[in-house]
Amino acid sequence: MRGFLLVVVVVSLFGCGATVPEVPNGIPVSYSAHLEPLVIAHCLGCHESEEPKAKLVLGQGEGYGQLVGRRSVQMPELALVEPGYPDASYLWLKLQHRAAEGKGMPRTLTGTKKLHPAELELYRRWIEDGAKP
Ligand code: HEC
Repeated sequence: MRGFLLVVVVVSLFGCGATVPEVPNGIPVSYSAHLEPLVIAHCLGCHESEEPKAKLVLGQGEGYGQLVGRRSVQMPELALVEPGYPDASYLWLKLQHRAAEGKGMPRTLTGTKKLHPAELELYRRWIEDGAKP
């Protein structure tokens, strides 16, 4: 048990995978250049092509087309991403743990967690900047 706990602690300290890139002001955040590495690090456990949760596939090269221009399956009245409007984007509500259905994202083995504030800010800016590829 103790060994297991140690592994959990080590993985949560060092397993974050990707660092949040600094995108200079005035440059729109790009999905492929800036956001995708973070999505791959924190979402693929459950949103990969084999039995993707909520039918959402976020693998390399696939996430953009799945997120932009698609409605939420949980809340079909909302788009997953509404370019320019984070608060009208179901993805943003999920990441804020403010979605009306299901749980906040990302989920974990024990529940859910919120992403680091710098990472959340990058998602928010990406949507606000027009959700560029
Ligand atoms: C441990 C598994 C797990 C991880 C990791 C995870 N998700 Fe999810 N996700 C789910 C499940 C299960 C659902 C459906 C039930 C729910 O919402 O709780 C879901 C639903 C969603 C939905 C709603 C889709 C829709 O069409 O309504 C979005 C958006 C989403 N996830 C985004 C993300 C993002 C972005 C990440 C990474 C930051 C992430 N998820 C990480 C399991 C996960």
